[in-house]
Amino acid sequence: MKETRHRAAGTAVKFEEPLHVGRPNIGDRDVFVERVNRILDSHWLTNDGPMVHEFEERVCELQGVRNCISTCNGTVALELAYRAVGLKGKVIVPAFTFVATVHALWWQGLTPVFCDIDPETHLIDPKKIRRLITRETSGIVPVHLWGRPAQTREIREVAEAHGLELIYDAAHAFGVSGPDGRIGNFGRCEVFSFHATKFLNSFEGGMITTNDDELAEKLRYMRNFGFDGYDTVVHPGINGKMPEVCAAMGLTNLESMDDFIGVNRRNYECYREELENIAGISMLSYPQHYKQNFQYVVVMVDRDVFGVSRDRLVEWMHENNVLVRRYFFPGVHRMEPYRSLYPESAERLKMTDHVSSRILVLPTGTSISEKEIRGVCALLDSCPRER
Ligand SMILES: Cc1ncc(COP(=O)(O)O)c(C=O)c1O
Repeated sequence: MKETRHRAAGTAVKFEEPLHVGRPNIGDRDVFVERVNRILDSHWLTNDGPMVHEFEERVCELQGVRNCISTCNGTVALELAYRAVGLKGKVIVPAFTFVATVHALWWQGLTPVFCDIDPETHLIDPKKIRRLITRETSGIVPVHLWGRPAQTREIREVAEAHGLELIYDAAHAFGVSGPDGRIGNFGRCEVFSFHATKFLNSFEGGMITTNDDELAEKLRYMRNFGFDGYDTVVHPGINGKMPEVCAAMGLTNLESMDDFIGVNRRNYECYREELENIAGISMLSYPQHYKQNFQYVVVMVDRDVFGVSRDRLVEWMHENNVLVRRYFFPGVHRMEPYRSLYPESAERLKMTDHVSSRILVLPTGTSISEKEIRGVCALLDSCPRER
């Protein structure tokens, strides 16, 4: 099998149109247009309108959480959450994440302290969190990366033992459950993103979920300039509101969520079948027995075994119209301003560097067919080897 494949090396499968990672899933167009017409007829375009209310209620039901606070995007949701829980000084966060997790800390005047990950799961390593705690640490921000739940029980124990705040970046984990329950219910609050590239999108959008009613009330004021009614301002705030049209998109896509997950799962299984015989390419699996959203197909490229570096493979795929992505490369500790400010952090982020130098994310979602997936895998396998 392997030899046959190697003989095919260099013969590329043709893709006329580019295949993208994160091409948006779109639910029932007619239902969405009908909702937009209702918004236009009502002239209620934003400011806590009925679509936003319905979206928040539906997400509360789905996640089994008491409060959902929708926002204009996930980054502003993170900033609101960091500020509302009162983080101060230093905050422990993985460097293997999208830069927004860390930028939002920075933007709030907080100092990120980068923690390494477990190379098997790509998630923050609770044992390594412990070693980074000092008197200046006020909180931990773990990320449920790729939608794989972080080790919520162990992390909670660490946070409680040291009196630290705990906020989860759940941008990838909408609709997911882990051994300890549904994502959305952990820490003081959790933050989701409904950006267009997420499997469930509201064009742009975010959501903070919490079972703490007081925190929820504060967050609602903060996302709307601190207003309580028409004229009274009770808290400092910003404009973090989700517009009605975004909520309409979120609601419409929510109605197709199970279909999206079904397609993602089918794609994931198909990739698994095709990739398992390619030496040097290993796929990150999703935990069995719990609800997952399968929104990312993540592989690791072992150069020595595959015979080509990850970066050359990326070029090959792009030359052939398959726009695979190096998520998340480089680690945030190698991006500015963090690289110049904390050059010493690279020393302790060996696993982050190891994973980010091998990682590759492949296209999935509703706009790729099984046939195309087989073509993507054949293309990947036909990459001319360097030795
Ligand atoms: C892990 C993570 N955190 C935060 C964000 C920021 O979300 P948004 O793009 O909605 O601002 C994203 C994605 O975009 C993300 O992947």
